[in-house]
Amino acid sequence: MTDQSPTPLREIDPDVPRNRSPIIFMAIVGITAISIAVVVLGRDDRRSIKATITVPQLNVAETRGREIFNGTCATCHGIDAIGDTDIGPPLMHPYYRMEIFPSDMVRRAIMLGKAQDKWKYGHMPAQIKLNENEITDVMKYFDALRENNSLGN
Ligand code: HEC
Repeated sequence: MTDQSPTPLREIDPDVPRNRSPIIFMAIVGITAISIAVVVLGRDDRRSIKATITVPQLNVAETRGREIFNGTCATCHGIDAIGDTDIGPPLMHPYYRMEIFPSDMVRRAIMLGKAQDKWKYGHMPAQIKLNENEITDVMKYFDALRENNSLGN
């Protein structure tokens, strides 16, 4: 003899309240929305501004300098010093125009590094991998770039 009565799909525990108040749900949604708004609106956007520049015709030394710059410095300062990174400022910027920022200061920054000062990207470490000649090439390239982008003398 077989049992003909249909098996219930699932047992419903009579102790579980089924019509819970929506207040808790609404509170959770509200708190989540406020938290997201606080995080999004309060975020400190560190991405540096991106300069628009043009690279001039370069001589041999300046071309070497460009290669060194884009290999060593661009991670922080952007390709051809245009910025657009999270860890360093654009160097094609009025702060670094020749008039107030002579080439010697570029050498100094490369050799000694630079403590955080004008920006909020932290410190620049000394670039100890570069030798004298490489530093000179980078400076020449940097000056050519500045002259061509209205930051020269
Ligand atoms: C690890 C990231 C990093 C690297 C790599 C780096 N820099 Fe910097 N550099 C910085 C930061 C950050 C500052 C801004 C410091 C400040 O707040 O003034 C800076 C500032 C400078 C300045 C301005 C210094 C001053 O006196 O105001 C020059 C010039 C410079 N960098 C050139 C270079 C050159 C050239 C290279 C490659 C040889 C290089 N940097 C590599 C992070 C870096």
